[in-house]
Amino acid sequence: MHRFSPLSPNAINSTLATQAFGHRIELRDQIDSTNREAVALAHAGIEHGTVVVAESQTEGRGRLSRQWFSPPGVNVYFSIVIRKPIANDRLAEWLSWLPLMTALAAAESIELVTAANVAIKWPNDLLLGERKVGGILCESGTGARSEPFQVVGIGLNVNGDRRDFPENLRETATTIYEETGRHVERNRLLTQFLHELEACVEEFESRGSVRVAQAYRQRCSTIGKTVKATLTDGKEFVGLAETIEQDGALQIIQRPLPTDGRPPEIQHLRVADIIHLRT
Ligand code: BTN
Repeated sequence: MHRFSPLSPNAINSTLATQAFGHRIELRDQIDSTNREAVALAHAGIEHGTVVVAESQTEGRGRLSRQWFSPPGVNVYFSIVIRKPIANDRLAEWLSWLPLMTALAAAESIELVTAANVAIKWPNDLLLGERKVGGILCESGTGARSEPFQVVGIGLNVNGDRRDFPENLRETATTIYEETGRHVERNRLLTQFLHELEACVEEFESRGSVRVAQAYRQRCSTIGKTVKATLTDGKEFVGLAETIEQDGALQIIQRPLPTDGRPPEIQHLRVADIIHLRT
């Protein structure tokens, strides 16, 4: 088996030039979930920008109550504690865009480190080709002095082989190594990500969501595709993904179009499971 350089706070810090992200790094060899640990540390008051990173997870959490496959030594699993004094009238916009900005930052960092073309499937699946190479799970909470915090958790499939995935993931998941034929230095990838996310967050804070939204739309391969959306109540809706709205919602227009003269139904989705059907 190939042995990769271990994850190392020293290696990350040696090239880190962020304001806050990654200044404190909590590295664990094995943990149940970096998100769970980051939420616990945030409740206990740990500082903004703290990163919890692990070589493996026993109960990695995915979106929609799924598990995140987290074998040791080949991938990156990490969570960042974010404490930003966001004004009340911008909180909804911030909470909508944080997961999307995280996907954007992850896509940009993979691309900068590997030169592979990364697309985003709304809301925050990272794709190489049509296969998933990474995912993001954001959680929110309130600290001891009632101050709100968010935790963004990122899992990236980096140096593993596709045949190591459990059978139910083998067709839909991939790794950077599988798609590019090259192994990636994980500390470098993580450092790049911290720079990219901090830059996105600064852009959002100083100028709002307009430019972040533009960059996200350019990367989002869901736009223009016919998709099947499974809604939170279990209902399915097939339609053309028209755009990402300024609040981060996915707008889908019913397909096939009604033949009885009625206008097509339009959905504005905040949460859904999306399958790309065709372009
Ligand atoms: C998804 O289902 O697409 C989201 C997956 C998020 C997985 C990451 S791995 C690091 C962090 N800790 C967790 O328990 N989950 C996130």
